[in-house]
Amino acid sequence: MSKIYHQFASVYDRMGADHHSLRMCDYTLELFKKFRIRGKQGLEICCGTGSALKYFVDHGYAMTGIDQSPHMLAEARKKTGKSARLIRATLPKLKIADPETRKPYQADFAISFYDSLNYLLSAKDLQTTFTQIGRHLRPGGWLIFDMNTPNALKTIWGNNVWGGSLDDLAWIFRHSYDEANILATVRLTFFERHGRVWHRFDEAHTERAYTLPHLRKMLRASGFSVKAIYRCYTVDRAEEKTNRICVVAKKQKDVG
Ligand SMILES: C[S@@+](CC[C@H](N)C(=O)[O-])C[C@H]1O[C@@H](n2cnc3c(N)ncnc32)[C@H](O)[C@@H]1O
Repeated sequence: MSKIYHQFASVYDRMGADHHSLRMCDYTLELFKKFRIRGKQGLEICCGTGSALKYFVDHGYAMTGIDQSPHMLAEARKKTGKSARLIRATLPKLKIADPETRKPYQADFAISFYDSLNYLLSAKDLQTTFTQIGRHLRPGGWLIFDMNTPNALKTIWGNNVWGGSLDDLAWIFRHSYDEANILATVRLTFFERHGRVWHRFDEAHTERAYTLPHLRKMLRASGFSVKAIYRCYTVDRAEEKTNRICVVAKKQKDVG
């Protein structure tokens, strides 16, 4: 993997990129009520700068976060101190031990926000990721995540250019869409001011989207029962044209 969320990590929250995660936290607690999800042990997959970890810790949950980026994890550490367990892991590999028993750790629920699972670029890797998450959930545990749909990558990312600026930071995101493979790449260019000098850094991120029937099939094959696929932030059923979905799935059995 080329380096993603490297220097981007230090400016992520300043750009407001963590707002979605915080919105997802409020929404997830509503879903917890709706589906009567009560356990207090949570696992965040692709925790990034730790905003959701902090939110859940502040709401009385014991949280473990995993991410591939040491730079994002360093930001998460600053935000959460010692209140959350942070582990570097690159999906689809995932192996977390319980800190006390040293047996495989099993949470009551797993969450993953801001299209993090779209970074799994093959169905095989996404399927393995679902299976690995399932192994880290107790029987009857829950998985809640949001994802970009093929429609989002086609119409929102598309071949569009976005930009933004603060007094000491500017960014340009140039997207390109590969319809045949439902893959979208965004080339991110940042300019950050240090004193009187502007520094440039670049990253390239690729996401893949999966149709709703394909996602359902993969989740079922990984031992989950899909309870709902919503238009994100609502409890309305997602449709083909929905851009961001939220999936609520319950572990039925271990697979593999
Ligand atoms: C869009 S950010 C979302 C971060 C956080 N969940 C949020 O809502 O702000 C995507 C995150 O996924 C992580 N990520 C991408 N691919 C990954 C992989 N294969 N394994 C583990 N983490 C990955 C990145 O390092 C990054 O922190």
